[in-house]
Amino acid sequence: MSQEIQNTIITLTESLRKHNYDYYVLAMPTISDREFDAQLKELERLEAAYPQYKQANSPTSVVGGEITKDFNTVKHDVPMLSLGNTYSKEELYDFDNRVKKLIGDQFEYTCELKFDGLAIGIKYKNGVLTQALTRGDGVQGDDVTTNVKTIRSIPHKLVGNYPEEVEVRGEIFMHRKAFAKMNSDRVAAGEKPFANPRNSAAGTIKMQEQSEVAKRPLDAFLYHILGDEKEFKTHNGALLKAKAWGLPVNDDMRIAKTIDEVWAFIETWDKKRKDLSYDIDGIVIKVNDFNLQHDLGFTAKSPRWAIAYKFETERASTKLESISYQVGRTGAVTPVANLEPVLLLGTTVKRASLHNADVIAELDVRVGDTVFVEKGGEIIPKIVGVNLDERANTSPPTTFIHECPECSTTLIRKEGEAAHYCPNENGCPPQIKGRIEHFISRKALNIDSLGEGKISMLFDAGLVSTPADLFDLSFDQLNGLSKSVLNEETGETRLISLREKSAQKIIDGIQASKEISFDRVLYGIGIRFVGSTVAKKLAEHFKNIHALMEAELEALVNVDEIGDKIGQSVVDYFEISANREMVERLVAAGLQMEQEEGEAPLSSKLEGMKVVVSGVFTQFSRNELKAEIEKHGGQNVGSISAKTSFVLAGENMGPAKLEKAEKLGVRIVSEQEFIEMING
Ligand code: IVH
Repeated sequence: MSQEIQNTIITLTESLRKHNYDYYVLAMPTISDREFDAQLKELERLEAAYPQYKQANSPTSVVGGEITKDFNTVKHDVPMLSLGNTYSKEELYDFDNRVKKLIGDQFEYTCELKFDGLAIGIKYKNGVLTQALTRGDGVQGDDVTTNVKTIRSIPHKLVGNYPEEVEVRGEIFMHRKAFAKMNSDRVAAGEKPFANPRNSAAGTIKMQEQSEVAKRPLDAFLYHILGDEKEFKTHNGALLKAKAWGLPVNDDMRIAKTIDEVWAFIETWDKKRKDLSYDIDGIVIKVNDFNLQHDLGFTAKSPRWAIAYKFETERASTKLESISYQVGRTGAVTPVANLEPVLLLGTTVKRASLHNADVIAELDVRVGDTVFVEKGGEIIPKIVGVNLDERANTSPPTTFIHECPECSTTLIRKEGEAAHYCPNENGCPPQIKGRIEHFISRKALNIDSLGEGKISMLFDAGLVSTPADLFDLSFDQLNGLSKSVLNEETGETRLISLREKSAQKIIDGIQASKEISFDRVLYGIGIRFVGSTVAKKLAEHFKNIHALMEAELEALVNVDEIGDKIGQSVVDYFEISANREMVERLVAAGLQMEQEEGEAPLSSKLEGMKVVVSGVFTQFSRNELKAEIEKHGGQNVGSISAKTSFVLAGENMGPAKLEKAEKLGVRIVSEQEFIEMING
């Protein structure tokens, strides 16, 4: 019997591996997704019952189901550099002159599209994908191998005549259509849409659940080959080879003999880019010959043999139909411009943030105006100006609302703050729901079986109005609960309801959150100005919630990096009896309200010292050094000030930092000196 089971597990494992290969590498599946899922489920069931027979690298953990809690940080073999940017024809020709000065004029350029996504470095050993790292800080990145393996266009195995070891670098991105579809699904499910394809690609690659990543439509182009034996002589030749190994290389690449030809390529693509199915934000120009690239070398930050030409951001003009106001978790009221839909870089823009009353006043933007809209770096589109020629002379200036659009309470504006606030903390629905959303968010209690839509459902049903209410929920209250949701696009309403499985998931998620550490619970409570770093500091200092609740302002501001503003906010929070009661209910529910004792310090050699770590190190990674500092009683701080005890400096420490340290008389300590310092 057990032999039979073992054989079945092996057969299923091999079959699924083959189908994965057909699907991901050959892009030619031979069975339906449904059949595949059925086999996968069966294998999962058998592996759960007979874990002793589970095969190494089983498809159940390779695709689907794998959870990565924290991504490992791994050093790049070769630092992942960025490119210099140019924004004008003049700057581009300057680049050409600089190159010619160094290598003469007998050379060619390659011109490639500059894909707007996130950079990735993928290693293949003996043709097998072994590692994929994000760019990170350029020196070390996150190991996102399992997630990258879900991208259909990236082969798990190379074909043809590939080298023994090779690293290929490129860009991961999302096609606009796939992005739009994904976003409308999210909206229908009551989830927040992503701002743009780049953000959603970057967010997706860092997701912990591999099966979720697999559902998101990611794609990739590779544009840089690193390897010891470069038999190929040119960049273009290397990319053609990479293509022959089965790697996704973009075809819209040209060789240009002169900078004028480069410019013609740029002009063509500036017009044509809107017809592509994905976003590009410029053109990358590289010297084609590897020997010449080698002669040109690198500056500290980027290669001298390549440059990026960035397109001007596209601007559209459209009509401002109305201004609406959104109330957030903290009660801050954000004005939002509702626009006549307009196409901007391939997506339809209907809304833009107006930020606050000052921005409205500065733009003097009025309902009915024709406004100019741009996508900034962060791509929630913004209004950059008003076309005054088209303003009706009867239009009145915009006045900011006086009452909360959700609960009609009179708004307040604190001195020195740009935002208007609704002070009705405990009676204003978006504030109540927002606080619960914050409580369950990833950095806080991480209850991912709940989301915006479900919280809204629970709130509307009168089941929750504070985070503590979550812990009183029962399965029977959740099972069958329903809510009708309006699809803004179509105007249709749909009934969504919680079925047994989701209800149980929610209960399980809430139960599991009782294991979350005290500092994250403290962050989740949502005291104003208490972000996750501050919550850690407070948890470490006060050790438990009751000590914090009783702390006076003086005790609070004594904690390192806690100033009056945060201190007062904590005092104010616990002065409200409803807040104290809510927290006591969390205590009673069994949440972690005490700081777990960490490892005992190794020594007090760095006691009271504030240290800045900067640059690239040879013996330890930056994170290891930071951990060492804490183990010896020191404290890591981000920027150099007169209070800094010393700067632990590696190679490539930026000149600006060095200058600042010297000016303030802050000591510079090398890696070796530091090691002697803590060991000596
Ligand atoms: S080459 C050492 N080629 O743009 C040269 N980069 O702003 C490495 N990018 O970090 C980069 N498309 O993430 C290169 N065809 C392309 C590119 C490209 C997009 C990204 C890449 C790079 C950034 C620089």
